[in-house]
Amino acid sequence: MLFRFAPPTDTAIPVHVIDMNTLDKWLAKQDPAVQAWVKVNGFIGAKKQALMVPGPDGAPLMALAGFGNAGQRARRRYMLAAAVQNLPEGVYTIASGLKGQALENECFGWLLTNYQFDRYRSPNRTDRQLVAPAGIDAERVEALVAAEVLTRDLINTPSSDMGPAELEAAARTLAGEFGASVTSIQGEHLLEQNFPMVHAVGRASTRAPRLIDMRWGDSGPKLTLVGKGVCFDTGGLDLKGKAGMALMKKDMGGAATVLGLARMIMAMGVKLQLRVLIPAVENSVSGNAFRPGDILTSRKGLTVEINNTDAEGRLVLADALALADEEKPDLIVSMATLTGAARTAVGSDLAPFFTDDESASQALFAASAKVGDPVWRLPFHEPYELRIEPQNADLDNAPASGFAGAITAALFLRRFVSASRYIHFDIYAWQSSNAPSRPKGGYGQGARALLDALPDLVDL
Ligand code: BES
Ligand code: ZN
Ligand code: ZN
Repeated sequence: MLFRFAPPTDTAIPVHVIDMNTLDKWLAKQDPAVQAWVKVNGFIGAKKQALMVPGPDGAPLMALAGFGNAGQRARRRYMLAAAVQNLPEGVYTIASGLKGQALENECFGWLLTNYQFDRYRSPNRTDRQLVAPAGIDAERVEALVAAEVLTRDLINTPSSDMGPAELEAAARTLAGEFGASVTSIQGEHLLEQNFPMVHAVGRASTRAPRLIDMRWGDSGPKLTLVGKGVCFDTGGLDLKGKAGMALMKKDMGGAATVLGLARMIMAMGVKLQLRVLIPAVENSVSGNAFRPGDILTSRKGLTVEINNTDAEGRLVLADALALADEEKPDLIVSMATLTGAARTAVGSDLAPFFTDDESASQALFAASAKVGDPVWRLPFHEPYELRIEPQNADLDNAPASGFAGAITAALFLRRFVSASRYIHFDIYAWQSSNAPSRPKGGYGQGARALLDALPDLVDL
């Protein structure tokens, strides 16, 4: 039952989730034996604290999971998962202390306690199963978890096994599961079909660049997701340094995240006409690599002066966004590990997004707080448009001043969208240290907030 709820059983151990401030109240209602056991074991409901309480025969009567206090919960997610990690194997059911959205969010965390990237080693898991609590949408939680697992696995897979072809294969596998269709335009065909910037960025790699196009659903509003699929970013000829390149297998994190979001949408049967576009390339170095100073003509016709081959994400996205825009969907969302500047601005825990649409922004904020998927709005600041206009072309892919790098990158992308409502996420897609339910490695940002906000973003 990995990543899923356990089937209901009479023998599940009831877990009481205990806030430090309400421990006394809860304890007052328990048998003297339970009260004594809790005291003698020093259980106070602190974060990460867990306690198994035996019945008269020594068999487990109940388990207690420390939930800390509200201040601590504001500082870290998955407080239940943190405590559960200290319980032994078994089948559990949540008996008290959580309800509604908080219960749903903590269940999401619980099911992910066993996430490990185990493609290249044997896993080391403790099997703590959870019976789906009454009153939550168990299928929805399982869909969110499955999508998150997909996103993480795709990001964590090293580039040697996750090039453009493997990313396409992953999209096809997902499509096959839900009856979606996939087409892909590869190599020289990218030039014939007018995706010059996807081709220019990807052509130096031995692994052919491609544009992956997935469609699902035949009624409802049109939603197009565009994900940056740079399967490895060396920086191109303006090569990255050692530290900057180390994590660049995750430069397809936007693609992994939109595939995760697509998985949620399809699993839940949301009435949408969904399209997912992934420009999948490796930004590599070779004799035919694109160069600093080159001027590329994009699909849309805008010319782009290359001032840094490491600002490749906006190039491949620009052609994909132009294609997305051609059929005027109701909403276009792009997700990309686009700039280091986004990290400098808000750190790795917050996913910055850009939109001109005030109501979309509010819906995202509300959804983000509700589902525990932190996002923050950054502005499409018009005066900075000047910075992306060089002397010899329409656009500059890397303004000389790195100031406001996330904003200038977002403004660059916006030039390629005209017809539709547009939201752009500049995500990090990486958890830097081990935390409960979030081991060091790839993870999804913004997708659950987007899913929850969807009814306010398109006319469902
Ligand atoms: N993939 C990187 C951005 C990135 C780096 C995201 C580290 C997350 C962590 C992107 O292609 C890039 O290198 N961007 C440059 C743009 C600059 C040259 C204008 C950057 O942000 O430094
Ligand atoms: Zn780059
Ligand atoms: Zn990149």
